[in-house]
Amino acid sequence: MSARVIDGKAAAARLRLLVAAEADRLKTEHGIVPCLAVVVVGDDPASAIYVASKNSAAREVGFVVRDMRHPASLPARELLDIVGALNADKSVHGILVQMPLPESIRTREIITAIDPAKDVDGLTPLNLGRLMIGEITVERGLVACTPSGALMLLKEAIGRDLSGRHALIIGRSQQVGRPLAHLLLQENCTVTIAHSRTAGLATLCRTADIVIAAAGRAELVRGDWIKPGATIIDVGINRVPAEGGKMRLTGDVAYTEVLQNAAAISPVPGGVGPMTIACLMRNTLIAACIQAGLPQPEVQPHAI
Ligand SMILES: NC(=O)c1ccc[n+]([C@@H]2O[C@H](COP(=O)([O-])OP(=O)(O)OC[C@H]3O[C@@H](n4cnc5c(N)ncnc54)[C@H](OP(=O)(O)O)[C@@H]3O)[C@@H](O)[C@H]2O)c1
Repeated sequence: MSARVIDGKAAAARLRLLVAAEADRLKTEHGIVPCLAVVVVGDDPASAIYVASKNSAAREVGFVVRDMRHPASLPARELLDIVGALNADKSVHGILVQMPLPESIRTREIITAIDPAKDVDGLTPLNLGRLMIGEITVERGLVACTPSGALMLLKEAIGRDLSGRHALIIGRSQQVGRPLAHLLLQENCTVTIAHSRTAGLATLCRTADIVIAAAGRAELVRGDWIKPGATIIDVGINRVPAEGGKMRLTGDVAYTEVLQNAAAISPVPGGVGPMTIACLMRNTLIAACIQAGLPQPEVQPHAI
């Protein structure tokens, strides 16, 4: 068997088109142009690449971008003031504080300060809590972008009904593993969450119909860990040495090995990454509608 490769780039392009069409309608019918504020602190090189992609995607779908850059020396107090000012600014619909923040700043304190209605990353305690109790779903409200994108790719590969499947998530971070676990529970999957202290990861993996790898460990998941016919979503982005002293990107899954056993696999790059950015666009559109008291637009995952 050779797995089907799930084309995240194509799925993301379709989702961005839907967002652009809805943004156009919002402008024509209500005079609203969604505005995304992107706050960057410091000069992390990987962040610079992600922020450039987010800014250009936002402009392409017709949003206004407020690109705010600050030196790594910015005191936490001042960053809180910046977030407070963006919360109060009615012309700003979405606030994204790019991670990682410098070590001198307590990340959780900054995320908690973001107005949940403008929380396009879906990471404030209120939005994470609403997701946990099922008030927020992938179809309604502001859900963290990478978990939403991963779920949409899963549905792209398997279809809309994921009921009864055993999903193994490798990684329990607040931004990926945990929100994804709640999304998959909402889909009636049986969910196992693994982490760095999990015993017998390979054996667990062999029981999973769905494996979502989000550990940040290059090629952790091997070909012989995969149950034949399983679907694999690789969230990991790792930079590893390549020929000629260069670096290349690889996921958390040993791609060529897993291709032999799996039914479908998302590649790195070209899988979850582009979907994360498209979901950020979707969330910004949703946030603009929520703030204007309009119904959430029909930019539904199953439309991709
Ligand atoms: N494609 C995208 O758009 C996107 C977006 C976000 C993140 N990512 C990538 O996804 C990966 C995970 O990101 P993150 O922010 O969730 O990372 P993180 O906060 O560092 O969390 C990593 C998680 O993986 C677990 N883990 C680490 N080593 C493990 C091992 N050997 N076996 C099992 N579990 C292990 C950790 O366990 P403990 O909790 O026990 O430490 C932790 O829960 C990274 O490569 C990141 O670059 C991609």
